[in-house]
Amino acid sequence: MSKKGKFSKPDTILAVAGRDPDNNFGIVNPPVYHASTILFPTVEKLNHRVPFEGVSYGRNGTPTQFALEEAFAELEGAHRCVAVQSGLAAVTGGITGFLKAGDHMLVTDSAYGPTRKYANTFLQRFGVETTYYDPLIGAGIANLMRPNTKVVFVESPGSQTFEVQDIPAIAAVAHKSGATVVMDNTWATPLFFRPFDKGVDVVVHAATKYVVGHSDAMLGLINCRDRATFETVKNTCMTLGFHAAPDDVYLCLRGLRSMGVRLRQHEKSGLDIARWLKTRPEVDKVLHPALPDCPGHAHFKRDFRGSSGLFAFTLKGEWSDEAEARMLDGLGIFGMGYSWGGYESLMIPAHPGQFRTAVPWNERTRIYRVHIGLEDVEDLRQDLADGLDRLKANA
Ligand SMILES: Cc1ncc(COP(=O)(O)O)c(C=O)c1O
Repeated sequence: MSKKGKFSKPDTILAVAGRDPDNNFGIVNPPVYHASTILFPTVEKLNHRVPFEGVSYGRNGTPTQFALEEAFAELEGAHRCVAVQSGLAAVTGGITGFLKAGDHMLVTDSAYGPTRKYANTFLQRFGVETTYYDPLIGAGIANLMRPNTKVVFVESPGSQTFEVQDIPAIAAVAHKSGATVVMDNTWATPLFFRPFDKGVDVVVHAATKYVVGHSDAMLGLINCRDRATFETVKNTCMTLGFHAAPDDVYLCLRGLRSMGVRLRQHEKSGLDIARWLKTRPEVDKVLHPALPDCPGHAHFKRDFRGSSGLFAFTLKGEWSDEAEARMLDGLGIFGMGYSWGGYESLMIPAHPGQFRTAVPWNERTRIYRVHIGLEDVEDLRQDLADGLDRLKANA
């Protein structure tokens, strides 16, 4: 029998949710179902499909997908979850249904780049206007609300620059005007931030990162507060033809089982490296939500249960492109790649100034975004120390 709803502790939910061995030959994991066509035995059954329920056509979901959705909804305390093909599809699928031509959306200036692109190109062409706001605006967002503001989008901490937002204050203002609050909670996962307790209505995740956890599958998950938000999101995703591929869904469900222990190690090693970086003379700011340098750190202390392994740092003074390239090119463990959340450590340079419109970010201040993986932390520290030495040697 499914143990749905029987447990409240996150580690137990991670291990048992979405599984039903009693109805699967005793096999622990839900099987992978590949399907397009589903056969109905009678005309009556063919004609009386219940929307959003059951298996009706491959694109609308398979039992493997429903198992993942059930487990992830339970973990975050959602009414229901919708699995889609990528994190970006989760962002667009989680927002689009709440907007129509003539509406207005507020988006944090620290949002993930492609989220901005979707707002600035796709939504703009369909007559939706977007205003970017200071991630630290808090209740001051009231001044930006318009009668036609239908969505307030938050992402905390922010992509690249890690500002931690005052989500309860923002959500309270948004709800006063009847706007829907959509949050990208990829960084914290449901283990470290509980969006529904803080007033969020729809929570999107790039499950590609920590949930999959092994850098080998793309997936998005959209958790919905209640039946009404679920119906809007599910309808949108079905209308747009969004779909989660069965093998990727299986890998995601498998990754979910070990997410708790992995995240605890990402947190521990991440904090260790972040604190050590702060002691290095070349390093200026360490933008790690759990450390005081990070804008909005007080909100982190108040609202979060832990931190994951992604953060950034800036360097003191001016360094040539050549010196910076030598630092990065010679890294032995850290790889350079546009992702994070896997078991392996990564480091990339980034230029937040390229994107910002509400709060200018010094064009010239480059950040180094670091993802701390599951390797030995001493080895990681040595790799970074060698890199900083190369930086100085090539100054
Ligand atoms: C915060 C955040 N949200 C969404 C996404 C998009 O996820 P995906 O690459 O699975 O489309 C990413 C990807 O890097 C991300 O960092």
